[in-house]
Amino acid sequence: MDDRLGELLAEGLAGDGPVVVMTGAGISAESGIPTFRGEEGYWTVGSANYHPMEMATYEAYRRMPEEVWRWYLYRRSVCRRAAPNDAHRALVHLEEALQDRFLLITQNVDGLHRRAGSSAARTFEIHGNIDVMRCERDGSRHLIPEAIGEAWGPSSPFTDEARSLLSGCCPGGALARPHVLWFDETYDEENFRFHSSIDAAVGAALLIVIGTSGSTNLPMQVGAIVARRGSPMIVINRDPSPFSEMAERSAAGYFCHGPAGEHLPPIVARLTGADRS
Ligand code: OAD
Repeated sequence: MDDRLGELLAEGLAGDGPVVVMTGAGISAESGIPTFRGEEGYWTVGSANYHPMEMATYEAYRRMPEEVWRWYLYRRSVCRRAAPNDAHRALVHLEEALQDRFLLITQNVDGLHRRAGSSAARTFEIHGNIDVMRCERDGSRHLIPEAIGEAWGPSSPFTDEARSLLSGCCPGGALARPHVLWFDETYDEENFRFHSSIDAAVGAALLIVIGTSGSTNLPMQVGAIVARRGSPMIVINRDPSPFSEMAERSAAGYFCHGPAGEHLPPIVARLTGADRS
């Protein structure tokens, strides 16, 4: 490992406050889930049936709830058929070693961190979870019933059975909505851990940012707060991004240019002491 990277990791471990890891779609790319803005990304590849970015709005859901649900059930099927990879597992080891000093902020709705073994208490899913539906009336959250299946393709028709399964939480039978944050909505604490994420950034002894293009508001705030405070910030990404620029501008920043599956395991081994045992 490069000496400078080793020094920054040691400085982070020696500091007060949590080791905060913030992930984006890039960490799940090696599990076969498309990113949003890459060549095969959800926001890049169009479809005969929808304009991808428009589908992720409350406005679209209000106008055509079944179309939006079809798209989320398709994406949910892609996520459910994927398995966690070495980078997800490395973060589970890091949490096991650091316990309450560990915090994970993820933009990913794919649930792979939780399936790998990251704890619910220390994982902030700031854009929601594709396996969960939310009642529009009382805001209650419910796992999407298993009976919905994992075989939804991009053109699968919405069925009466699906409608009834996705209406499970409301006595009146109204359709629940996907528990995800849409472009015309704002972060809050109750659903998306907004304040907890800001607090984590303010207190962080070390921030590790993995596989995100820096296109959304809260993650950029988290990065900017840590950079402004001069705390160590390690960025792992296949491509340069606003986060890698922040790291390169900061005296306590370091950019690991390449895939998460390659760069994260040695960093975790250093933080847990596994590379010395
Ligand atoms: P993006 O698709 O915008 O960016 C993925 C990033 O991961 C890019 O910078 C890639 O270079 C990088 N990447 C790809 N493969 C990688 C690998 N194997 N290892 C490391 N890095 C890799 O996805 P996000 O930044 O997660 O929000 O997108 C943020 C949010 O924008 C999403 O959560 C979603 C979207 O709109 C909502 O839907 C609210």
